Amino acid sequence: MTNSAAQTQPAPADTTFLPGPVLLLGAPGVGKGTQAQLLMGRFRIPQISTGDILRSNIAKGTKLGKAAKDLVDAGQLVSDDLVNEMVADRLAESDTESGYILDGFPRTLNQAIWIDNHLAGAKIALPIVAVHITVSYDELLHRITGRRTCPGCKSIYNVFSNPPKLEGKCDIEGAELVQRPDDTEPVFIERMKTFEAQTAPVIEHYRSQGRFREIDGDQPVESVTGAITAALRSLRAT
Ligand code: AP5
Repeated sequence: MTNSAAQTQPAPADTTFLPGPVLLLGAPGVGKGTQAQLLMGRFRIPQISTGDILRSNIAKGTKLGKAAKDLVDAGQLVSDDLVNEMVADRLAESDTESGYILDGFPRTLNQAIWIDNHLAGAKIALPIVAVHITVSYDELLHRITGRRTCPGCKSIYNVFSNPPKLEGKCDIEGAELVQRPDDTEPVFIERMKTFEAQTAPVIEHYRSQGRFREIDGDQPVESVTGAITAALRSLRAT
């Protein structure tokens, strides 16, 4: 089953355990967005993607979007203060009360310390758990350059591994699929440098805290979802 098919026929809700706040960590193109969308359907908790929120602000030309555009296009990070404020606003919404999947956040140690402190004072009782998805460099480049997304429903496709039924069109909305401006090889190289320098320490921060699992992302989409679900179940049982 492809991820786009999964979005049209969501799996029955898994109510056997509460995932709580989940951080999905990993390099550009590793599959965070794909997995977050599937887990959102399975657990009925929201996906909070800082990349999607920034792109939506860029498309609308908001003050935040104007501040972020050049950095996102160059593969660099938007300032911690702007992103933390954006996440604080989103976490204040009522649909986050039983948990959520943070996709692409935190990406710096400052953001990690901020979210740890923010959650220490939050209503949600469960502690953060972190899942790091790993994929080889060459496969990441292949995934990034083949990715296409629906500007409407945000479904994620790949011209190599998960093409739409009709070339260039979203299976769900029929809209023209788009390629992100930062999905070129030169910008991918910059994004990887940013990841190694600024986000790798975040992964070590959560690894050292113990509520952490590493998942091999170089498997079919459904196998990765199964491995993440099993990891969350075991993390919440301890
Ligand atoms: P963001 O949008 O978060 O980009 P990213 O982290 O680089 O991750 P991607 O969205 O590129 O990839 P993904 O892991 O979600 O992979 P996907 O599931 O799409 O951030 C963009 C920018 O915004 C940043 O560079 C930065 O400027 C800014 N930003 C965002 N958050 C920030 C923060 N916290 N602080 C500061 N700045 C921030 O999959 C990729 C492709 O692979 C798809 O085509 C998919 O179909 C395919 N695929 C997925 N899984 C599989 C599989 N198992 N097998 C085969 N193909 C697969």
